[in-house]
Amino acid sequence: MTTLESFLSELEAVATTAALRELRSKYLGKKGVLTEQLKTLPSLDPHHRAVFGASINETKKYIEERLKEHEKQLTSKEIKAKLSKEKIDITLPGYYKKPGGRHPVTIILAEITDIFVSMGFSIEEGPEVESDYYNFEALNIPQNHPARDMQDTFYIDSNVGSNRSGDDAFVLRTHTSPVQIRVMKNSSPPLRFIAPGKVYRCDSDISHSPMFHQIEGLVVDKDISFANLKGLLEGFLRKVFGPDVPVRLRPSFFPFTEPSAEVDMGCYFCKGSGCRVCKGTGWIEIMGAGMVDPRVFNNVGYDTNQYSGFAFGMGIERIASLKYGIDDIRLYYEGDLRFLRQF
Ligand code: DAH
Repeated sequence: MTTLESFLSELEAVATTAALRELRSKYLGKKGVLTEQLKTLPSLDPHHRAVFGASINETKKYIEERLKEHEKQLTSKEIKAKLSKEKIDITLPGYYKKPGGRHPVTIILAEITDIFVSMGFSIEEGPEVESDYYNFEALNIPQNHPARDMQDTFYIDSNVGSNRSGDDAFVLRTHTSPVQIRVMKNSSPPLRFIAPGKVYRCDSDISHSPMFHQIEGLVVDKDISFANLKGLLEGFLRKVFGPDVPVRLRPSFFPFTEPSAEVDMGCYFCKGSGCRVCKGTGWIEIMGAGMVDPRVFNNVGYDTNQYSGFAFGMGIERIASLKYGIDDIRLYYEGDLRFLRQF
């Protein structure tokens, strides 16, 4: 077999670029077959040397060309194989992760907060475990006052059934009104703030939850009147429920306000004609409010000859329920994604 024949038969078996490199060095390398042949030239007589030399060079050239050609084919084959191995099927549907959403209570709370902040109110907070003093006493709800029965209180631990009161006894706050006392004790008028937060009552059914959210509001300054209260709450409710919503104040009672009022708005569902939600009255009770009782001012050391003020308190779930048409308060706390994804 000639050098060329053996090269060609070996070339046929080469299937990778690595094997090709080996073959190249076997024939054309420093110690390759052709290099060795060239080394024999000086020992030949001049005539044979010329013929043999020319033939080696021609073979070398030919081998080089074949190697190049083969390399080209191999490289493109290898690229094709790599591409098909790493192929991604972009027709497969992707994995979709639903983005999280805000809870309806959070949405309404943010909306309400924004409205009051735009009217110059600041935001205050108070503890959820509250002393009897702040939750009741200072708000003019003394021990054994019938108003304590209005709110089914969770007492903390050993206070159950005890007659302890004042700073001694602790409760889960039944409303956000104690924040009024805390802020007034720590600062002086003029005051204008809201206090959102969780409150707790021992009550559970379709419209009551042992934990829910309230927003308290307090304004204290010189010459604050009931008309200011009415104007503010009307403006607020129209921002939340639309510019045409009718608002009315009904006389009511709260120990910490005098006079007190229940604030109603025209039924959001039947527009006042009477339905199941408003129990046929056309009106929906939306919050409690009133002028701060002088006894409360006395408790925090404010001069009632100089200052007056109003307060209000509303349930956030109640407002969210009216806005979104939710008829069972328990839905807010069950964490059911089918419910939560609707907001
Ligand atoms: N704290 C009352 C409640 O939870 C709501 C309330 C009524 C708050 C009248 C007030 C107010 O500030 O003036 O039922």
